[in-house]
Amino acid sequence: MKKTLLKINHIAKYYPGVKALDDINFEVYEGETHAICGENGAGKSTFIKIITGAITPSKGTIEFNGNVYDHLMPPEAMDLGIAVIYQEFSLIPYLSVAENIFYGREIRKGCLLDRAKMNDMARILCKEMDVNLDIEARVCDLGVAYQQIVEIMKAVSRKAKLLIMDEPTAPLTLNETQIFFSIVRKLQKDGVTIIFISHRLEEIFELCHRVTVFCDGKYVATKTIAEIDKKQLISFMVGRELADDYPNPHNKKGEVVLKVEHVTNRSIRDVSFALYRGEILGCGGLVGAGRTELVRAIFGADPLESGTMFLKGRQYRPRLPGDALQAGIGLIPEDRKNQGVILGLSIKENMVYSVLDRCCTKLFSYILTDKETAYVNKYIKELNIKTPDASQLVRNLSGGNQQKVVLGKMLATECDILIFDEPTRGIDVGAKYEIYQLMCNIAKQGKSIIMISSEMPELIGMSDRIIVMSGGSIAGELMKKEFSQERILELASTH
Ligand SMILES: Nc1ncnc2c1ncn2[C@@H]1O[C@H](COP(=O)(O)OP(=O)(O)OP(=O)(O)O)[C@@H](O)[C@H]1O
Ligand SMILES: [Mg+2]
Repeated sequence: MKKTLLKINHIAKYYPGVKALDDINFEVYEGETHAICGENGAGKSTFIKIITGAITPSKGTIEFNGNVYDHLMPPEAMDLGIAVIYQEFSLIPYLSVAENIFYGREIRKGCLLDRAKMNDMARILCKEMDVNLDIEARVCDLGVAYQQIVEIMKAVSRKAKLLIMDEPTAPLTLNETQIFFSIVRKLQKDGVTIIFISHRLEEIFELCHRVTVFCDGKYVATKTIAEIDKKQLISFMVGRELADDYPNPHNKKGEVVLKVEHVTNRSIRDVSFALYRGEILGCGGLVGAGRTELVRAIFGADPLESGTMFLKGRQYRPRLPGDALQAGIGLIPEDRKNQGVILGLSIKENMVYSVLDRCCTKLFSYILTDKETAYVNKYIKELNIKTPDASQLVRNLSGGNQQKVVLGKMLATECDILIFDEPTRGIDVGAKYEIYQLMCNIAKQGKSIIMISSEMPELIGMSDRIIVMSGGSIAGELMKKEFSQERILELASTH
């Protein structure tokens, strides 16, 4: 008989106009890794926040280790051994690894911090977990995978019984995910119960024992991984079978629209390439290879030290992103929370900001014209943004739906060149396909796309041509018939 660690009884959470969760019932067994799946806005993060005490449920009870609670407070959840790694990082960047691990329960000697002791304990923890990490390094100097591992170490040091991970691998590339997984497997061996959320379904099949599916805030089913395949899982999630993974683009390539020649700045070295009208140019590479830095330079967000760029044959020197937008180049950034949207404004305000001069007749007015409303509603529908209406604050949307707002905002600018930095990170399987289709349509209209992606299948499935970056330079270019995961990885790891 399996022992139940966590039992959810009729849990619901209501917001004005939104049933984020509605009458959820299921159990998590001790020692299992249990996935929660569902489309953007299905209620996964809301559920997690209820378990960790971050929000109070509107109805229902939580049974943990045999005790029943109608709600938990965060310190109480922590004392029970519930730890969480949220969708957004919660580490303090300028503190060291050890300081982060013991943050909030620092070890003291008298009234001073006992750094030596904390460092020793952190070192022991590293050894136990078989992690090779400089525990005195500042967290902001670590790669994302290791930051994520510090989050896990923090949880482990608290002797977590239940470790909840909300899209922990979203910012990680293939290699980093493997490093991260090896740590998770150690925890599994030690009997830690894990709740795992990810939009990368392969990960669920690789790591989890059972999976529970939510759809529109409702419980759909719980299955063991052995009795279900990817196709069935998707149909539980979206209530239908999906079309192919990628729309077949077959884009017609036109003349060169953007030419980048010997571009160099503090993060990239001597980068040259051309972008053609109507093509989707993929950009691959490992995290830190300089991909984001390259597109930031093209977008005028970072200055060039040397090199030239030509846009439709004329020299192009953006000094600010405004210059790039004016010239018809748009960027959908990787770090959407900080660069993409204003959380305290509504969906329509966010979207209209980028198109203000295109269709606003009353500048600085919050009353939307019919044209603007039509724009906003068009993208809410096309991107399937889950919201009661366009006046909802972006802060109140689920993680994936916030990202769709950023996409909509940039699509609405109708730029001729669109740069997508990790376009589908955190986006559910159903919506991914919609975004791919949108990208193909954009290319068919004779516009051009540069797409940075760390997801190999996406890079291979969507690109007409791929450039691979490594160490701030272009390591190679692949034509469609040369595409393969091995070849991309090989180029990505050249020095
Ligand atoms: N504070 C809030 N006010 C109003 N609605 C909210 C609030 N928080 C969440 N919601 C809504 O609740 C629903 C569930 O959101 P939740 O963040 O749990 O989704 P999710 O399954 O984690 O999605 P994703 O995969 O995009 O992260 C969404 O429709 C969201 O807009
Ligand atoms: Mg979420």
